[in-house]
Amino acid sequence: MTDHVLIERPEAYPGVQVIRFNRPEKKNAITRDMYAKMTNALTVASSDPAVRATAFLGTDGCFSAGNDMADFLAFAMGGSMGTEVIEFLKALATATKPVVSGVDGLAIGIGTTIHLHCDLTISSERSLFKTPFVDLALVPEAASSLIAPRIMGHQRAFALLAAGEPLDAKGALDAGLIWKIVAQDTVENETLALAARLAKKPPEALRIARDLVRGDRSDVLARIDEEAKHFAAQLKSAEARAAFEAFMRR
Ligand code: COA
Repeated sequence: MTDHVLIERPEAYPGVQVIRFNRPEKKNAITRDMYAKMTNALTVASSDPAVRATAFLGTDGCFSAGNDMADFLAFAMGGSMGTEVIEFLKALATATKPVVSGVDGLAIGIGTTIHLHCDLTISSERSLFKTPFVDLALVPEAASSLIAPRIMGHQRAFALLAAGEPLDAKGALDAGLIWKIVAQDTVENETLALAARLAKKPPEALRIARDLVRGDRSDVLARIDEEAKHFAAQLKSAEARAAFEAFMRR
């Protein structure tokens, strides 16, 4: 399997599993293989008692530039979309243990919407959250069209998801997309320490508390499917193909 995603269990942070984007040369853009590896890690986390919390991390100055554009283009040209993305989104949405994330720098597309499923997100001041779905002739994914309006209200969700307006770290904090802003050189340690603190708590009580706070997730799963139908149809559109080709030609 790809090493563009690293799965780590750092000794210094017992009970924590790290899912780290590790493709800095492509701004941590996420391929189908990478989704599959992350799904596997989330599945392991659910069943392995040694894992009590999962932390998503990126690389220096970049969380993720979102879905790999070459994969988008391949599908637009008639290839298979595969099931990797949907399986990942559903595994994330139904994770049974706490999931946190640490963002330093670019967080685009699913690099932004992933945090809607995280329980706590720590970010550096220089981070930028952006979902240019409509500019690419696509639509929101990851149930973001359901969760974002709930947490930030219609106008801010529309600005982010439909208008493609970026949020800086302060804007993301105000919108409730992230929990805390820290100095950029401490994002990783603060995120891991946070995950380790969660990992030390009584697991059953934490599981129940988390379930109560997150609520029933059947609507989230249904919205993931509903968005995916539109997403797949739009991916095949001439306007989307033109947008991907323009990106690949740059
Ligand atoms: N898919 C595939 N490759 C990507 C990518 C993506 N989503 N984002 C960046 N890359 C690649 C670039 O093609 C480039 O590869 P190359 O060096 O082989 O040409 C490399 O990563 C560096 O990117 P570059 O664009 O040169 O860096 P930048 O700092 O000028 O800009 C971004 C960074 C993220 C703003 C810009 O790359 C971008 O807009 N990417 C697309 C983001 C996007 O729309 N994602 C999908 C959301 S649904």
